[in-house]
Amino acid sequence: MRRKDPVPVSANESTEHNRRDFLYIATAMTGVVGAGAVVWPFIDQMRPDASTLALATVEVDVSAIEPGMSVTAKWRGKPIFIRNRTDAEIEEAKSVSVDQLPDQLARNENLGADAPASDLERSAGEGKENWIVMIGSCTHLGCVPLGQAGDFGGWFCPCHGSHYDTAGRIRSGPAPENLHIPNYEFISDTVIRIG
Ligand code: FES
Repeated sequence: MRRKDPVPVSANESTEHNRRDFLYIATAMTGVVGAGAVVWPFIDQMRPDASTLALATVEVDVSAIEPGMSVTAKWRGKPIFIRNRTDAEIEEAKSVSVDQLPDQLARNENLGADAPASDLERSAGEGKENWIVMIGSCTHLGCVPLGQAGDFGGWFCPCHGSHYDTAGRIRSGPAPENLHIPNYEFISDTVIRIG
């Protein structure tokens, strides 16, 4: 029997084959690069830029805030109440014992989670008890309470009638918790850094 001769592969056919492989590989590579090109900007957008990082903390000069006055700063999109309380406002808050309060926790990020809602624990601490710094978001449904208002001379949330005292503690109304206190510190006698 005569052995079949191997079918010769023409130069054209071989070239065509290689070209097809090359096209296939090239397309596959483009696919990978293409996917990478789409994913990278997406990841890059998630990386906070310098301006976002700068907003992670806010410094507020409180030297012009006289006793009885307050300001609202903005930090990470939230209102921050900073109030320089009068002696009478401090005394009023101190005269209430913690066990009379609807929420007996300080809700102060600078202290442990179980710190009591005494006036000292709600304030900026020893020697700075006149200062109170809080997130201005009602703990009921997030409205912004009004300052120097309400039945306890602190803050009043008009949305559903929550009354907070001069230490920002809920005293009556539907809000379940005291106004929250963010992480902050005095970095000098007159400048507070929030965040
Ligand atoms: S949101 Fe403040 S009382 Fe409802």
